Amino acid sequence: MTAQVLDGKLVAALVKDEVRARTQALASRGVTVGLAVVLVGDDPASAVYVKAKTKDARECGIDATDHRLPADTSQAGLLALVAQLGADPRVHGILVQLPLPKHFDTDAIIAAIPPHKDVDGLHPENLGRVAQGKPRFTACTPAGCMRLLAHGGVTVAGASAVVLGRSVLVGKPMALLLANADATVTLCHSKTRDLAERVAAADIVIAAVGRSELVRGAWIKPGAAVIDVGINRGADGKLIGDVEYAAAAARAGVITPVPGGVGPMTRACLLENTVRAAELA
Ligand code: GUN
Repeated sequence: MTAQVLDGKLVAALVKDEVRARTQALASRGVTVGLAVVLVGDDPASAVYVKAKTKDARECGIDATDHRLPADTSQAGLLALVAQLGADPRVHGILVQLPLPKHFDTDAIIAAIPPHKDVDGLHPENLGRVAQGKPRFTACTPAGCMRLLAHGGVTVAGASAVVLGRSVLVGKPMALLLANADATVTLCHSKTRDLAERVAAADIVIAAVGRSELVRGAWIKPGAAVIDVGINRGADGKLIGDVEYAAAAARAGVITPVPGGVGPMTRACLLENTVRAAELA
């Protein structure tokens, strides 16, 4: 079997078309959708992500503003900016790019974002709503993975799903979304003993651990759906996913490439959350 490749750029373009139509509808009522993107420090990868997010937003008619703070900004300084953006009626969505420099209490920063402006879906209230099965804003990467599964025609209800990685950004909300969609979910992590066997039994594999090619192609159940969230850099600077791509693609039913799979979908789902925030405001 050779897998159908799920083209994240193509699906993201479809989502962006929908977002554009919704921002235009709001504009005709005099509402300009506003997104504030906050970047602290000069991590080069984060700078690339933030640039792509603001570019995508502007392409969809969203007024994206960039707020760059030096790496030595204090917790109080960042909290003050979040409070200012939280009180600004022109700002419908706030995104604080992660990871923050080590001296920050990241949880306290995220908790300070008003939940109705938390378009990243990381505030405890929004994560709690996902846990309840009543989402308002869903974390962008897991939401993007669900969209890709739907686009690939993957049946989630009743499927065995394995999620690798238990981060708050991806693994945990991903496991909840799959469970909400009636999959039987196994959440694996660095202490999981029999990873190969668990992956081999899975109809759906979501790899989000940040380790190049940890998931071996030979582990993949024939016909499985494989979603690769990993963005790792090889010694030659090339991007490598968490899945051994060529060998996995030879067995899977559908698979996402790196780059061009989940990444564009994360950004598209951010835009969708942002226009939704403006519609709900
Ligand atoms: N860093 C990597 N992915 C993300 C994301 O989805 N949101 C934020 N805020 N930071 C990230």
